Amino acid sequence: MSQLLLCCGASAALHKGVDLASKLTQAGHRVRCILTPTAAELVSPQLFEAVTGEAVSVYEMGPERRGSMDHIELATWASAVLVAPATADLISRLALGLAGDLVTTTVLAVPQAVPRMVCPAMNPNMLENPAVARNLRSLAEDGWRVLDSESGHMACGVDGQGRLPEVEEILAAVAKWLAG
Ligand SMILES: Cc1cc2nc3c(=O)[nH]c(=O)nc-3n(C[C@H](O)[C@H](O)[C@H](O)COP(=O)(O)O)c2cc1C
Repeated sequence: MSQLLLCCGASAALHKGVDLASKLTQAGHRVRCILTPTAAELVSPQLFEAVTGEAVSVYEMGPERRGSMDHIELATWASAVLVAPATADLISRLALGLAGDLVTTTVLAVPQAVPRMVCPAMNPNMLENPAVARNLRSLAEDGWRVLDSESGHMACGVDGQGRLPEVEEILAAVAKWLAG
C-alpha cells in the first residue's frame, strides 16, 4: 500500500476531499494531508486528522511548526502525490513551480520518480479559461496525471464541466494509476 500525500485546495468540493482521505485510509493506504491555508478556513484540518489518524499540515512556519523542515520530511515520505480538489489557483502555482505555501513547497521537493495526480474542481468558465487550460497542459507535460472533471450541477449554481468526480470514481482512478 502507498504512502499517499493528499493535498487539498479551497474548493467547494473540499467535503469530497475529506471523504477521499477517509476512503483511501480505509483502503489500507497511509494518508497524510496538507491543506492550503484557504482550504483550512473552509474545513477544519481536524476532520482530516480524524479520518486519517495522521497529523495534518497547513503551515510550515509559526506555532504549528512540527519539524525543522516539514516540506522535506513530507516530500521524502510520499510514495505518491494526489492533489484533490485542485483549485484554479493551486493548479497555476503548481504549473509555475511556485513555493509560497506548504503544499507547493512540498510538491516541488518530491523526487521526480514519485507519481503525481491532480484532480481539478472549479466553475465551468474557470475551467474553460485559456490560462487554466494552459496550466493543466503544463502539468501534464511535466508528468502529472490529470484526472478529467465531470459535467453536472455545480455548487456555484450552474451546470457544466468542472465538477470533481465522485469519490468512488477517484478511488478507482487512483487504484488504476498506482497499479500502473
Ligand atoms: C466557498 C468557496 C468555494 C470555492 N470553490 C472553488 C472551486 O471549486 N474551485 C476553484 O478554483 N476556486 C474555488 N474558490 C476560490 C478559491 O478558494 C480561491 O481561488 C483561493 O484563493 C484558492 O486558494 P488555494 O488554491 O490556496 O486553496 C472557492 C471559494 C469559496 C469561498
